[in-house]
Amino acid sequence: MQSAAQKVEHQLTDKGYVPVYTTRVIEQPWDSYTAEDHRTWATLFERQRELLVGRAAQEFIDNQQRFGMSADAIPKFDDLNRVLRAATGWELIGVEGLLPELTFFEHLAARRFPVTWWIRKPEQLDYLSEPDLFHDLFGHVPLLLNPVFADYMQAYGAGGVKAAAIGPEALVNLTRLYWYTVEFGLINTDQGLRIYGAGIVSSKGESIYSLESAAPNRIGFDLERVMRTRYRIDTYQKTYFVIDSYEQLMEATRPDFTPLYARLAQQPSYAAGDVLADDQVFQRGSGEGWLNDGDV
Ligand code: PHE
Ligand code: CO
Repeated sequence: MQSAAQKVEHQLTDKGYVPVYTTRVIEQPWDSYTAEDHRTWATLFERQRELLVGRAAQEFIDNQQRFGMSADAIPKFDDLNRVLRAATGWELIGVEGLLPELTFFEHLAARRFPVTWWIRKPEQLDYLSEPDLFHDLFGHVPLLLNPVFADYMQAYGAGGVKAAAIGPEALVNLTRLYWYTVEFGLINTDQGLRIYGAGIVSSKGESIYSLESAAPNRIGFDLERVMRTRYRIDTYQKTYFVIDSYEQLMEATRPDFTPLYARLAQQPSYAAGDVLADDQVFQRGSGEGWLNDGDV
């Protein structure tokens, strides 16, 4: 029952006010899912699986199959965890929704991935403003089977704990990295650009837009460049950053960020749609349909 989710406060972040739920870890109340909930899962699952053939990174698609995720029913976290623990030592934990930043980082650093237990309502198939079970499970969980990406997620969590101690500006820089990789990343493959970001693969519209629209920029991943780039949370992205491999991501982020945060604090940020002289440009966006307000 979605109504059982407990929002406790709204917190001002760089994304505006976001609801923050209870921090407790909860057993997935699987028996409480209604027939409508399972149908919502099935509809979204089938729609995205079809759309993502030739669009999502192949390991993303393969890993969903390794998990045995299907349209038949909302997966049980316990079943997924048997596969996940054996493969990379990660574990899914049920939560009510968005966690305070530090709590979220601490879970990731311990290889625990928080998954919102409730699924969106049928009238929210195309958009909702906060993560639900479909986004978290369908979008984030498959790549946790990839050993390199699994390590990246843990390192990000540990880096988050450290950044939280350094200060809010460090957190802004680090959050941009998460946004432009884990949520909205593209990867360059021999077959062409593919999606690996969870925010894209769980969105019908953005799965097409991110790869096929002439409007957004597609730019080669560069750590400092990404950490200086603001983003939008309420529309499709103006810029997608493209990695060559998960190893590249892991290697680029391995150094201690402490001196980097100090340097970035002295430098201006870039607007979400900026293209710079030394960018590796896969596509310069036409900018069609871009709004001029609101990147953070
Ligand atoms: N190396 C980063 C640091 O020292 C941690 C990190 C790793 C951050 C991977 C993001 C991704 O803070
Ligand atoms: Co997400």
